[in-house]
Amino acid sequence: METRLQFLIDQARKEITEITSLNELQSRKSHYIGKKSPFTELMKQLKELPKEERPEFGKKINIAKNQLQLMITEKESSLKQLAYETSLSDNIVDITMPGRRRNKGALNPINKVWREIEDVFISMGFDVAEGYDIEDEFHNFDALNTPQDHPARDLSDTFYIDNNILLRTQTSTVQIRVMENHQPPIKIIAPGRCYRNDNDASHSPAFHQVEALVVDEGISFADLKDVLNLFVKRLFGQNIESRIRPHFFPFTEPSAEIDIVCLKCLGKGCNLCKGQGWIELGGAGMVDPNVFDKLGIDSEKYSGYAFGMGIDRVAMLKYKIPDMRMLFENDIRFLKQFK
Ligand code: DAH
Repeated sequence: METRLQFLIDQARKEITEITSLNELQSRKSHYIGKKSPFTELMKQLKELPKEERPEFGKKINIAKNQLQLMITEKESSLKQLAYETSLSDNIVDITMPGRRRNKGALNPINKVWREIEDVFISMGFDVAEGYDIEDEFHNFDALNTPQDHPARDLSDTFYIDNNILLRTQTSTVQIRVMENHQPPIKIIAPGRCYRNDNDASHSPAFHQVEALVVDEGISFADLKDVLNLFVKRLFGQNIESRIRPHFFPFTEPSAEIDIVCLKCLGKGCNLCKGQGWIELGGAGMVDPNVFDKLGIDSEKYSGYAFGMGIDRVAMLKYKIPDMRMLFENDIRFLKQFK
């Protein structure tokens, strides 16, 4: 029996040393350690030995079994290490291979135009001011000299949140915010989001405007026309003329509407300008002294001009986008055309 044990140990050692794969090791492991292993068989034969020799020999079998177990564990970890190393050397990273292309989006035309407008005005010495999307009636209407019964206040145009609280319908609110907190000279633009209950191919319930306000001593209508002309040429091209037409806004006096030469037909008349040769861009005027008075700005000393226009509208004109809703859908096929 002693020889049998020794034979088993030698055989197992030799076999395990020669194993080269983890799979093979696994199957031999269950052979030697499992329930039907030759060591278990040997244990069963203990009873054939004289009683006094049994404990001693049983111990020997157990020691042999434990040593074998240890050997298998070591073999296992060295085979795993080897497998890891070969996987590294087999999968050499080829740094000359082209990378995976990422599907990048593109800036929405509104953002593009917004940034262009800011750049043009900043280059003319304007600061960029910000107001609030959620406003009160004072900043959206009262301070802008808009009477209580003005149709723009109507629930059908304005989104009211509460009695006196609303989503601003125009960036003109920022004029008030700025004049409340600063004495002239003031020279700002205020781009931002506005809200009106309107939704069709040329109106969106959330849209964008840019407002301008210049207040100082001796500001005249000629200054307004000059800045508008410069702005239009810088944004749309040197050949694009602008003009102003008399109009009415509560917070400016006199007030005007700004037109630019039709970008499609350059003044000849087409379907875009409905045969007019001109396209409306926004509103403008000289700040009404009533507005100054409400805000504690000396209307005898100071004068100012203001104008406002739709950023979305500018984007549509500039990029010949037929429907405003396209600007808000964020369809990647649409956006990619503006890269
Ligand atoms: N807030 C006006 C609107 O939404 C646009 C406007 C007109 C702004 C005249 C002005 C202005 O600053 O002077 O229709």
